[in-house]
Amino acid sequence: MSSRTFFVGGNWKMNGDKKSLGDLITTLNTASLNDETEVVCGAPTVYLDFARSNLDARIGVAAQNCYKVAKGAFTGEISPVMIKDCGVEWVILGHSERRHVFGESDELIGQKVAHALESGLGVIACIGEKLEEREAGTTEEVVYTQTQVIADNVKDWSKVVLAYEPVWAIGTGKTASPEQAQEVHEKLREWMRANVSEAVADSVRIIYGGSVTGANCKELGSQNDVDGFLVGGASLKPEFVDIINARA
Ligand code: PGA
Repeated sequence: MSSRTFFVGGNWKMNGDKKSLGDLITTLNTASLNDETEVVCGAPTVYLDFARSNLDARIGVAAQNCYKVAKGAFTGEISPVMIKDCGVEWVILGHSERRHVFGESDELIGQKVAHALESGLGVIACIGEKLEEREAGTTEEVVYTQTQVIADNVKDWSKVVLAYEPVWAIGTGKTASPEQAQEVHEKLREWMRANVSEAVADSVRIIYGGSVTGANCKELGSQNDVDGFLVGGASLKPEFVDIINARA
């Protein structure tokens, strides 16, 4: 096992209300969580303050998106300074739903990554290929291109977690096999070694996302280059505790 701190992010997406998220928060606050694992919950924008005020301090909070500048006439957007003002320290950027449902380009995602980091947020930067890209044998090309744009916008990698999330595995119940996940994670780490630095390749957390559950997390989490998870559906359920404790 590596010395990288295991990182488990929950991505609540556009789900829940104060009642159900409050119940989930109570479950997390009172659960026995592996204290060697870093845990962050991605809350909907309107619940960031609620999540930060109610979650135990040992659990981090993330916004699910933000814009590329600090303020201005950008109706509907939020900025990193606002996120920080709510006591929230992370943001998820480049999620496949932002890329493919809302049409965010690599360029925009890169600008957002740069601005979020300059503003002092930690960034969970997501990449991943679509099914047709995997079937066409272009997985590496796709994830390297996405990672290059992110890398071009990062100065301090200690504030970045890279989330490999194959689009075909997100919300589909079709998890990448531990071998498939390990293969891409290892290649990404080698890409980092060749294109960023030896030190960053060794230290950056590369987490897996896509239909992670309490049932499959232990095997996925035991792969050498899988340093944690970004969890959607299962992060809204008590089984999220089992996922946090995957390496316990
Ligand atoms: P899922 O979502 O766990 O529901 O597949 C993962 C994600 O989108 O981060």
